[in-house]
Amino acid sequence: MCGIVGIISSADVAPRLIDALKRLEYRGYDSAGVATLRDGHIERRRAEGKLGNLERRLEGDPLPGQIGIAHTRWATHGAPTENNAHPHTAGDVAVVHNGIIENFATLREELEAAGAQFQTETDTEVVAQLVSRYLADGMAPREAARAALARLEGAYALALLFAGDEEMIIGARHGPPLAVGHGNGEMFLGSDSIALAPFTDEITYLEDGDWTVVTRSGAEFYDGEGQPVTRSRKISRGAAYVVDKGNHRHFMEKEIYEQPEVVTHTLAHYIDFAKGEIRDGADKLDFAALDRLAISACGTAYYAGLIGKYWFERYARLPVEIDVASEFRYREMPLTGKMAALFVSQSGETADTLASLRYCKGEGVAIGAIVNVAESTIAREADAVFPTLAGPEIGVASTKAFTCQLAVLASLALAAAKARGTLTRAQESEMVQALVEGRRIFGEVLRSVQPRIERLSRELSQYKDVLYLGRGTNYPLALEGALKLKEISYIHAEGYAAGELKHGPIALIDEAMPVIVIAPHDKLFEKTASNMQEVAARGGRIILITDEKGARAVSLKTMETIILPQVADIVTPILYALPVQLIAYHTAVFMGTDVDQPRNLAKSVTVE
Ligand code: F6R
Repeated sequence: MCGIVGIISSADVAPRLIDALKRLEYRGYDSAGVATLRDGHIERRRAEGKLGNLERRLEGDPLPGQIGIAHTRWATHGAPTENNAHPHTAGDVAVVHNGIIENFATLREELEAAGAQFQTETDTEVVAQLVSRYLADGMAPREAARAALARLEGAYALALLFAGDEEMIIGARHGPPLAVGHGNGEMFLGSDSIALAPFTDEITYLEDGDWTVVTRSGAEFYDGEGQPVTRSRKISRGAAYVVDKGNHRHFMEKEIYEQPEVVTHTLAHYIDFAKGEIRDGADKLDFAALDRLAISACGTAYYAGLIGKYWFERYARLPVEIDVASEFRYREMPLTGKMAALFVSQSGETADTLASLRYCKGEGVAIGAIVNVAESTIAREADAVFPTLAGPEIGVASTKAFTCQLAVLASLALAAAKARGTLTRAQESEMVQALVEGRRIFGEVLRSVQPRIERLSRELSQYKDVLYLGRGTNYPLALEGALKLKEISYIHAEGYAAGELKHGPIALIDEAMPVIVIAPHDKLFEKTASNMQEVAARGGRIILITDEKGARAVSLKTMETIILPQVADIVTPILYALPVQLIAYHTAVFMGTDVDQPRNLAKSVTVE
């Protein structure tokens, strides 16, 4: 995580560095800082907390300079204080860093033994100290940077600024992404193309292991061996996206309300609406030849994958193994037989997911990736890319990316079913129709349930704990509901398979623990209704999300019943995600938390 940016220009760079940081704040917001060269000397401004604090500091104490680097931090090593804020300096070098230097303790010991005086608790400072030592040994900046890079272990995207050298910034990538932006007489470096979008849409991504020397007139690229390499320029789509909240209070609210449109775009990529069939190409993974599929992802994307497992197994009769990516490699699953692996990621940069992908690739497994950021590392390393067309998701809590992931997974499960001969043409047409019809009602559902959910959320914000229950594909949705609520409202929440209630969590039930039950009137409804009775019998307060039939079938007094239109099974997790997200959103608003940037979190998790 963390966002880094660098600009070399003939105009003052600090205002544009801040502009770029605003677009990177989703990567972390514990502190921010900027460094420029003024008359050849490194000058810094840094501030704890959100970027606004740094902006205020710069208003009172502007920073001139036509070359500079900047950083927004998600703390790993060292508390989120101003002193630990990047850029870090030592002697004649300033550094911004995204990632973790794993051997920092050994390097620090060595440098301290040689007399270095460390100022911070961060892992990053060893980079500055190491480069500084090599400069003091008489190396030129490039040599010093190269020698230092060779000593670093771990994951890093770095930008280095040298006192007395107004002509270059050095960037390096080992893991987290780094993009070079090409301008006219000026050049840029950034964690992604969206950060650089206001300045340029011509982007070159560094390959893993590359480093670059960026000057006003261009960039030279070198691979890990130090050999000059050519890296192609691409026109980035980042520039096409407007990153603002429109009329909404928060990005999260905006993104929730964008879902009718973006889910439609995503479905249209995989489904020919006119013909009522799955498009050719949705089966790029050769599903017919597989006897097993592995799915791996983190957080919300993992819950999308878990719903996908039900669909692949049910419709395509394809066995699926699913793991959170941070555990996938440690399970040491035998990657034998005819298998493929599917990775799900909004950012396409999540370190655990990427590491799992590389592990599978190393074992010769075919790789598919469902990603939202087309230029991301996961997209670039996969054999087959299945895009979600959600547009940039800025709110840290994933909403529209989740429902778009579900739209892709549903389409792929049907494509797999078709390829494997487990779906007749009539069934395909029926399911496709259900998805196409289903997405039409999303907008109306959001509008109609909103007032009731707002009232309910006011009440929920008084509680300390909430339990979510679901069965079948609504079980992963219960997990997602609990994650969403806890991450943005800070109310403790747990998701359980409804049938598991009696195996432990029922001990928690009393009037102080509302239970949100996600239960459309499907073939599993009766069983979930029995679980609701068990909750009610123990004084538990139930919030039921269901349809008309479900509401009629339940005689219990509920704290609230949210009624949604009746839809086909394949549509329910997507439709029911909408009230689940709204509950979390409005509860967080009543709690007064920072909805778009909840504490301790970052959007793109590029450390393991
Ligand atoms: C929760 C959330 C996270 C992400 C997870 C994976 O709202 O957003 O749990 O889903 O960090 O991120 P991606 O999808 O970028 O790999």
